[in-house]
Amino acid sequence: MIDHQTLLLIVLVAILLKLLFDRRNKEKSYLKHPPSPPTLPIIGHLHLLKPLLHQAFRDLSLQYGPLIYLKLGSTQFVVASTPPLAKEFLKTNELTYSSRKVNMAIDMVTYHNATFAFAPYDTYWKFMKKLSTTQLLGNKTIEKFTPIRTKELHEFIQILVRKSKAQESVNLTEALLRLSNNIISQMMLSIKSSGTAKQAEEIKGLIREVTRILGEFNVSDFLVFFRKLDLQGFEKRARDIHRRYDALLESVIFDRKEKRRKSKGEGCDDNDGDEKIKDFLDILLYVSEQKESEIKLTKNHVKSLILDYLTAATDTTAISVEWAIAELFNNPKVLKKAQEEVDKVTKKERLVCEADSPNLPYIHAIIKETMRLHPPIPMIMRKGIEDCVINGNMIPKGSVTCVNIWAMGRDPQIWKNPLKFKPKRFLEGEGSTIEIKGQNFEMLPFGTGRRGCPGMPLAMRELPTIIGALIQCFEWKIFGFKGEILDCGKSKINMDERPGLTVPRANNFIGVPVARLNPIPFLLV
Ligand code: HEM
Ligand SMILES: *[C@@H]1O[C@H](CO)[C@@H](O)[C@H](O)[C@H]1NC(C)=O
Ligand SMILES: *[C@@H]1O[C@H](CO)[C@@H](O)[C@H](O)[C@H]1NC(C)=O
Ligand SMILES: *[C@@H]1O[C@H](CO)[C@@H](O)[C@H](O)[C@H]1NC(C)=O
Ligand SMILES: *[C@@H]1O[C@H](CO)[C@@H](O)[C@H](O)[C@H]1NC(C)=O
Repeated sequence: MIDHQTLLLIVLVAILLKLLFDRRNKEKSYLKHPPSPPTLPIIGHLHLLKPLLHQAFRDLSLQYGPLIYLKLGSTQFVVASTPPLAKEFLKTNELTYSSRKVNMAIDMVTYHNATFAFAPYDTYWKFMKKLSTTQLLGNKTIEKFTPIRTKELHEFIQILVRKSKAQESVNLTEALLRLSNNIISQMMLSIKSSGTAKQAEEIKGLIREVTRILGEFNVSDFLVFFRKLDLQGFEKRARDIHRRYDALLESVIFDRKEKRRKSKGEGCDDNDGDEKIKDFLDILLYVSEQKESEIKLTKNHVKSLILDYLTAATDTTAISVEWAIAELFNNPKVLKKAQEEVDKVTKKERLVCEADSPNLPYIHAIIKETMRLHPPIPMIMRKGIEDCVINGNMIPKGSVTCVNIWAMGRDPQIWKNPLKFKPKRFLEGEGSTIEIKGQNFEMLPFGTGRRGCPGMPLAMRELPTIIGALIQCFEWKIFGFKGEILDCGKSKINMDERPGLTVPRANNFIGVPVARLNPIPFLLV
């Protein structure tokens, strides 16, 4: 039996709870979206955009505040542009914002639900993430591939040496893309492009097309109304890329399976004379053959992951180096100091190498400074999987959150003289504690948290060495717009940006390399 007092208490608590609950519900439904410019019917804010989306978003944020809400056609966007807001979305509410938005081209090109980079935060993603960080892109595997990267770098420098002797101009943009593409395709598939190797050349071309189509901001993605009209061209292109990529990978995988079968038959597990390193494809095929695996890896999963890595690794790395070299050209004092650092470490007796990395703090500061001003991926884009309240604002489920890291890198409230290229800011005072690993929310070139870039360890091995070797060996005579020669220190080269999934320089870096150390003895061996 319940006595009266207890009953009364229960009723009171129930009433109180109901009141509280109602108020909370009301509060939530009373919550507003973040500030927003005036909209037009159907298109929402589409008319406010420019091809360089991150710049358009920055301009709107300056006008409407650090957290804004936009409707682009039928898709809702939220743009955050301060470190505390970045933390709020990407750390405090990490699990809500650990998925990505997929458009039609992405879906088609990346094998629909077999993709890793665009997968929702689910069991499959977790499985691939673990595989990526522990095996494929883990320190141990990367370390094993050091000879391949060193060889590629030496060949790259050799080509430039030849050009410099002949006083011929080089398309550095192109050469860097080839270098980073060669490195990742050899690590993944043991193939490289060399003019004769058909498969590798084809992959290189395809990756360029994939990157382009993924980055295309297409109205049909935002306007259901236009979708029917736009579909033909865009969809046809996406399907064509997909078909060609698939045929290529089918043949690569077929050849590899044959080889694996043979070597198993002969009972000499992968031992053809000297110890052959397993490339990513070997590792992936091995995992897909495991019966008791938590996830059954299908061939589509393997093909999709290879595509993810190739596209994620090629442009980003090449672009970072190019921006750094361009900034150094425009800042000769910084360049000189960096060259002195490299000369001191190598004693001018050999080419700089990956093992030198810990002894190149100034080069590391240059990389940070480059990524502050020119993050290769200008915005961290995530999709919210449920309603979320951020700073008292209602962020609706399904909206795309863009953390504008490009805008934060240029915000005078965060950085002193933000437009000045000053690597020293990362070597003294508070700046020396800023890392790019995702804990400092004002510097997120590789993203942060679970969904952050798994390729960072690889990229951070390549970058100091490539940049170091380039400045160790060469200075540049650059051609300006009208073909005139620009001298380092006297004139500046143009630093405009070009739109895309990644943000490269608008103008390709074309110039004549001038050998700095003559002869370059370490290359004659
Ligand atoms: C300078 C070079 C690079 C930069 C600046 C960069 C930057 C980024 C950024 C900003 C993201 C999104 C992170 C987020 O949402 O928080 C990302 C994702 C990713 N990156 Fe990189 N990246 C670079 C190199 C690489 C390399 C070499 C690989 C090698 C395979 C790679 C593989 C990936 C993959 C697979 C993802 C998707 C991860 C996921 O969705 O879980 N990246 N990268
Ligand atoms: C993924 O795609 C495959 C093939 O298109 C399909 O059979 C499978 O059911 C899909 N899985 C999910 C979870 O949607
Ligand atoms: C990988 O190597 C880098 C530098 O050599 C080091 O900072 C990092 O902690 C290592 N990561 C793991 C998981 O061991
Ligand atoms: C330089 O290389 C880029 C990237 O491959 C290419 O788009 C561009 O057309 C090239 N420029 C010249 C002048 O060859
Ligand atoms: C969107 O797709 C259409 C159809 O193929 C294409 O003509 C258009 O150039 C694309 N838009 C952009 C911005 O690339």
